[in-house]
Amino acid sequence: MENSRPRIILSTAISIDGKIATKTNDSKLSSKEDIKRLHKLRSKVDAILVGKNTVSRDDPILTVRYAKGKNPIRIILDSQGTISKKSKILQSCDKIPTIIAVSKKIPQKNLEKLQKFPIEIIITGKDYVNLKLLLKKLSKKKIKTILVEGGGTVNWEFVKHKLFDEMIVTLSPFLVGGEDAISYVGGSGFSKISNSPNLRLKSVKRLKNHLVLHYEKL
Ligand SMILES: NC(=O)c1ccc[n+]([C@@H]2O[C@H](COP(=O)([O-])OP(=O)(O)OC[C@H]3O[C@@H](n4cnc5c(N)ncnc54)[C@H](OP(=O)(O)O)[C@@H]3O)[C@@H](O)[C@H]2O)c1
Repeated sequence: MENSRPRIILSTAISIDGKIATKTNDSKLSSKEDIKRLHKLRSKVDAILVGKNTVSRDDPILTVRYAKGKNPIRIILDSQGTISKKSKILQSCDKIPTIIAVSKKIPQKNLEKLQKFPIEIIITGKDYVNLKLLLKKLSKKKIKTILVEGGGTVNWEFVKHKLFDEMIVTLSPFLVGGEDAISYVGGSGFSKISNSPNLRLKSVKRLKNHLVLHYEKL
């Protein structure tokens, strides 16, 4: 069973009140030192995975820039294939391997748009990307470790299905507030604390005013 999916590390920077972005979508919670740490970690994994909202709102390139090492494969969850042609991900996909995971519900015109790019398109799930099936397919492609970098909806799906092995949370010295600001883990949430995955704190690293908390799932 363990080998039927890659090793999953959930990674994020949160404010003290557990937000990963403000209500107007400012998500710059990391420090310079923390970004270097993250990029070193990126260079050691086979792939980075994010949701389509993170791509549309932050327009990340998801490469290794502040450390030495190779770029991991980028995986985007985008059921309807709505990613913009102008996104940094698609604009750089001739240089950095990119997988867009879509569902069977993807409109034909979006599929055709994606097919014009040198990317791999993986189709799973009826109208939403089926995570378990996707991970199985990625495992067959020899992708052994995936760093999941959010956002909140994607984090919830991995947490809900207990589909992760480690979790690295950078606690940043900010208070964001706001009902509409995105929390680290979104979705419908658990009703009981006992439904939460059980975590063991492996290490705490202090980077000036930021704390890097490293957990493993029991
Ligand atoms: N502080 C940090 O470290 C950090 C890191 C990353 C992101 N962020 C912030 O997080 C925010 C975005 O979070 P978000 O919750 O709105 O969106 P998200 O998690 O980035 O993307 C969610 C979307 O991914 C698509 N998706 C497809 N299959 C999925 C599946 N199996 N499971 C989960 N999602 C799937 C869904 O759209 P479809 O149904 O259309 O496919 C879903 O609505 C941004 O504001 C960003 O700045 C912060």
